[in-house]
Amino acid sequence: MHRIAPSLLSADFARLGEEVRNVVAAGADWIHFDVMDNHYVPNLTIGPLVCEAIRPHTSAPIDVHLMIKPVDRIVPDFAKAGANIITFHPEASEHVDRTLQLIRDCGCQAGLVFNPATPLHYLDHALDGIDIVLLMSVNPGFGGQKFIPGTLPKLRAAREKLDAYEAASGRRILLQIDGGVKVDNIAQIAAAGADTFVAGSAVFGAGRDADPHRYDSVIAALRAELAKVGA
Ligand code: DX5
Ligand code: ZN
Repeated sequence: MHRIAPSLLSADFARLGEEVRNVVAAGADWIHFDVMDNHYVPNLTIGPLVCEAIRPHTSAPIDVHLMIKPVDRIVPDFAKAGANIITFHPEASEHVDRTLQLIRDCGCQAGLVFNPATPLHYLDHALDGIDIVLLMSVNPGFGGQKFIPGTLPKLRAAREKLDAYEAASGRRILLQIDGGVKVDNIAQIAAAGADTFVAGSAVFGAGRDADPHRYDSVIAALRAELAKVGA
């Protein structure tokens, strides 16, 4: 099964609750929540207060992508604010295994995020503590960037590792992609092994002309492309 996770980074920040309701009504599976600190990445976005504010607007999972350093201090705050999934970049944590455990101890699913040039070997001794692997297909910090093609072979390599792990353990780890995902490339990305798709500008950039904003047709178009590679 494929999951579509629109990134709020490209939503209308003056009416986030309504954006969340509309995008979920249009068929989004998760809400992707990008947290940037102007330190680990050169941009500044939203934190636990905003997560708490949107929580009552949906029962869809809130997928918090932490682009911050340090990581641990703020994890419990996001869990209390209603996050369901929390992912972080291994370079941003001094103790990756400890941070993974902390996220699970707080009741959330835990994941590692790989920048375009970050090797997958961080997975080698961490898979038991991971629920989701996120591959960045742009450098983190901004929405609306172009998909980096080298992510496709990396996705296939990650798919192989996760399939081997599932065969040995019986446990399935999700494989998410984030950055430059559009209607015209999502099928290719799915074919390379991703099962969960973040899309910011592709979703929130469409449907902006209607009031209230409508996202049904873009999400349907993404799903139609996914159907081509089999659900
Ligand atoms: C980038 C963020 C992404 C971003 C995706 O640092 O992690 O989630 O919002 O935006 P698009 O889909 O526009 O590339
Ligand atoms: Zn993200």
